[in-house]
Amino acid sequence: PGIKLLLFPSDTVTDFDFSPFDQLLLATGSADKTVKVWCLSENGQDLPASAGVILGPEGCQVDMLQFHSTADGVLASGAGRRVKIWDVAQQQSLTELESHGDQLQSLAWKQDGALLGTSCKDKKLRIFDPRAKPTASQSVQGHENNKDSRLIWMDASDYLLSVGFNQMREREVKLWDTRRFSHSLLSCALDSSSGYVWVPLCPGNPRVWVAMGTPGCIHWLRLGRLARGGSCAVGAALTLSVNQCVTEGKTQGAALVPKLALDVMACEVARVLQLTDSFIVPISYTVPRKSVQEFHEDLFPDSAGTLPSASSQEWWAGDNKQPSLTHHVVLFPQDGSGLSSPSSSLTSPSMAPSVSTTSGFASSSSQRSLQSILGPSSKFRHAQGTVLHRDTHITNLKGLNLTTPGECNGFCANQQRLAVPLLSAGGQIAILELSKPGRLPDTSIPTIQNGTPVADFCWDPFDLQRLAVAGEDAKIRIWRIPPGGLQKMLLEPEAVLRGHTEKIYSIQFHPQAADILASSSYDMTVRIWDLRTKQEVLCLKGHTDQIFSLAWSPDGRKLATVSKDGRVRLYKPRQSLEPEQDGPGPEGSRGARVVWACGGHYLLVSGFDSRSERQLYLYKADSLSAGPIAVGTVDVSPSTLIPFYDEDTSVVFLTGKGDTRVFVYEIVTEAPFFLECNSFSSSDPHKGFVFLPKTTCNVREVEFARALRLRQSSVEPVVFKVPRVKKEFFQDDIFPPTTVWWEPALTATAWLTGSNAQHQMLNLQPKDMTPVSEAPKDVPVRKYAPSSVYLEEKSDEQKKEELLSAMVAKLGNREDPLPQDSFEGVDEDEWVGRHG
Ligand SMILES: *[C@@H]1O[C@H](CO)[C@@H](O)[C@H](O)[C@H]1NC(C)=O
Repeated sequence: PGIKLLLFPSDTVTDFDFSPFDQLLLATGSADKTVKVWCLSENGQDLPASAGVILGPEGCQVDMLQFHSTADGVLASGAGRRVKIWDVAQQQSLTELESHGDQLQSLAWKQDGALLGTSCKDKKLRIFDPRAKPTASQSVQGHENNKDSRLIWMDASDYLLSVGFNQMREREVKLWDTRRFSHSLLSCALDSSSGYVWVPLCPGNPRVWVAMGTPGCIHWLRLGRLARGGSCAVGAALTLSVNQCVTEGKTQGAALVPKLALDVMACEVARVLQLTDSFIVPISYTVPRKSVQEFHEDLFPDSAGTLPSASSQEWWAGDNKQPSLTHHVVLFPQDGSGLSSPSSSLTSPSMAPSVSTTSGFASSSSQRSLQSILGPSSKFRHAQGTVLHRDTHITNLKGLNLTTPGECNGFCANQQRLAVPLLSAGGQIAILELSKPGRLPDTSIPTIQNGTPVADFCWDPFDLQRLAVAGEDAKIRIWRIPPGGLQKMLLEPEAVLRGHTEKIYSIQFHPQAADILASSSYDMTVRIWDLRTKQEVLCLKGHTDQIFSLAWSPDGRKLATVSKDGRVRLYKPRQSLEPEQDGPGPEGSRGARVVWACGGHYLLVSGFDSRSERQLYLYKADSLSAGPIAVGTVDVSPSTLIPFYDEDTSVVFLTGKGDTRVFVYEIVTEAPFFLECNSFSSSDPHKGFVFLPKTTCNVREVEFARALRLRQSSVEPVVFKVPRVKKEFFQDDIFPPTTVWWEPALTATAWLTGSNAQHQMLNLQPKDMTPVSEAPKDVPVRKYAPSSVYLEEKSDEQKKEELLSAMVAKLGNREDPLPQDSFEGVDEDEWVGRHG
């Protein structure tokens, strides 16, 4: 995700933690002795004016916070000598843990969420079972020096790692078995230079740690084999190795990027953000693999996912359910071997708005109540895009023309086949059958010889064999593909439409009536064609500059356009050739797209503002002149975001040619209008991203959209799913009856003479499934609470300052001065573990 700068209108932030189930939910501890829970806004830049929940005040400054790892809305806070466990939604404390003889130094939940460990200035490590009793169930002398210490659970195992100082004031790491918590299994001294920042390279893997210290070096801590099931971990060893990566600047803090944000297809197993005085440096760890075309399952076993396994009440009542596992999420290779040197690149702290990825599925009652306090969210926020198995890909594509004009989507597809232009003087188009995935032959394949370069093209929704191609020669050619696909070169179009006087920008078939096609051209007209007579039937006027995009309304009565002349226009073509309405459009002149949304009552425009930021604009279709009712900034990037709107879910997918990310929003007709959902990211830029009809979706897998992703030399299906617990039921809240838009509702003549019609609707429920609405237990109900989110103005300097101090407080060494001396390399042999 993009780097966000957060600023809070409260006093000094002492610690913070994001909810593992909702990345927009942030708890902060502050010097004013309270714990605040914030719901960050979806666009990643705006800040809530006030905290959603305030807990406390505690008797003294809140020094540490950690959300529970399995239960929803459970938060541990440490202030002075006391740990409190909160039920955030109920805004009350569940218990207070006492027994600390001095100031707390760290706290940590065990991954299974049953136990909590602390380290304390009284040099003791303690284990609490907070639901059993408020006093420590076990404790042990930890490190000999009472300087800063930290306690870290090793995965879900019974092992603990503690980091502290020995009598010689050297930094040391100790390994503990909590089943025999009387002495450490082994310990390992680090160097005496201080100021390390510890990052578990993968929280799910106990073996590999990164310590970032003085300038220039990153250390690896590697744990040898842990004897499983034996009486003790004989032969276990801690190894510290110095990594070759030279980082710039002194490390002030470091954090691990969430696993879901990693580039899995590039075999990126971890990414650490290093904070220095003036930079945030992403350091990426990849495992070199010969093929990066496929998903390497061995590198990425399932890991704890982002769904809570219990509500706060269930957990408090004794529930011990384990976290649900997320597939295809990163864990470390078991032996930590084969890691390549990390690559790093410098980026200054970004002030650019960035859309954050979100998580946190509203499945438990406490989460819902939290959300009703904190504001609306989408039930699609957890939508997960996945590239389907390699067996379904078409590979070895050669000579694709990937420089199609901005008005064109790059390629086009229907449920049977796709068309993609090739590099060649004669405007050749390759036709590929989706039923025949696999590697294409090295020899050339049969093509359509369009005769002139392709400006735009699209499939006839009602005739899967028919492709309309707009040419740079101002003509539209209609091609017919034989059933089963092209066997030989196609030289003769079925029809040629002549009338435009200049090059064509884009074309689009009518959504209801057969044989009706609209086209826009450099001649600044939009023409409507009857394919049976091959004649132009209507010619719409009024544009004064390039027509970026056109879109028929779902009912086929209206046509909207967005133009470089800065206007959004709406035509009722059968009533008038002049616009019925117009209103202000995007200011930027790089390009724009328009789609209809929310039952055909709204228009969604994607375009650029005057500073070239990519933005979304939502209009009420009956009052364009009033301007957009909502504007949202997506990011900064040169290519136009191409929207695909799914009527059934009101979810819009947006991505540009050459992008690696597909943004997903649910559109709602009240504030905040755009509810951000999890985006899909890929390792390499796609050349095109085209969605397929709903009927291609596997509803049993709660797959609500399916697309094809065009890469340099392959096409691969990408499916978008919603994680659901009761998958045995048909998720009727996600799959309402869908429009049978692939069958015409009208003939061309009927439409042209003023008739209207409606498509049939299709129920997607498989016969053997019961709707989830009829399932025994109640299903989550979405609530929209009014949201009041305001931007607070602060200077970039202030933002930097606050980020820096917050991160140092969170991750840096709180007591030690940062070493000024440069670090000397250490031989790996020196770090072989010594038993403690
Ligand atoms: C690629 O297509 C564009 C239009 O779609 C055309 O202008 C260009 O000449 C084509 N390039 C080649 C090398 O065929």
